[in-house]
Amino acid sequence: MRRLWWGGFLVLVLMASGERAGAVDLKETMKGILDAAAGFSPYVDAQGAISLPLGVRGEWVHLGSWVVPDEKAPGYGFHDVYTQPESVAAFRKNGVFPDGAVLVKEIRTVKTDDLTTGRASWAGEPAVWFVMVKDGKNRFAGNPLWGEGWGWALFKAEDPKKNVATSFQKDCMACHIPAKETDWVYLQGYPSLQ
Ligand code: HEC
Repeated sequence: MRRLWWGGFLVLVLMASGERAGAVDLKETMKGILDAAAGFSPYVDAQGAISLPLGVRGEWVHLGSWVVPDEKAPGYGFHDVYTQPESVAAFRKNGVFPDGAVLVKEIRTVKTDDLTTGRASWAGEPAVWFVMVKDGKNRFAGNPLWGEGWGWALFKAEDPKKNVATSFQKDCMACHIPAKETDWVYLQGYPSLQ
């Protein structure tokens, strides 16, 4: 018990001296912590700018794949869709994506060759990433990349740091209307959610 008291006293002394020595730094640190707590996703900043999550192929759940084999089609390529493990668990429980759920669709080029199985196609290098971030609270009203319950983004392999989408209405919506009833997501392609 006595040791516990001394421990507590020491912590208080350290905190007090720390505050005096670097009052500004402490304030900055606190602000950082509060900002992080207020933000709802590590991939979205305070203004709603979305960044591409890295390493999803190794760490997230693979929801399913699509292949658009026609070279002239707008979506030509292999499409692999990923989300966080906790978003899958929440979806399986409630049937909806939780706030902060991120869907990443990685499109890769198509390679084809005659293998021992027959004429086979497989995914080559990544070309683009489509990203949706669930936001049920309309946090970024007025930001043209947020609406209909999601944030919308598009990144290209030549500069994965830059979201090249400018308006979800213009760049995304028309093509997602067939999936409106299922919160704009093409659920039929994601067996991992069932
Ligand atoms: C040419 C039509 C088209 C456009 C434009 C389009 N999408 Fe999609 N998107 C689809 C289709 C169809 C699917 C599912 C089937 C597939 O990938 O072939 C899909 C799937 C996705 C997925 C995987 C999750 C899901 O909804 O099934 C994400 C994420 C996504 N799109 C984001 C976006 C974003 C963000 C934009 C705008 C920047 C966008 N899409 C623009 C047609 C489109």
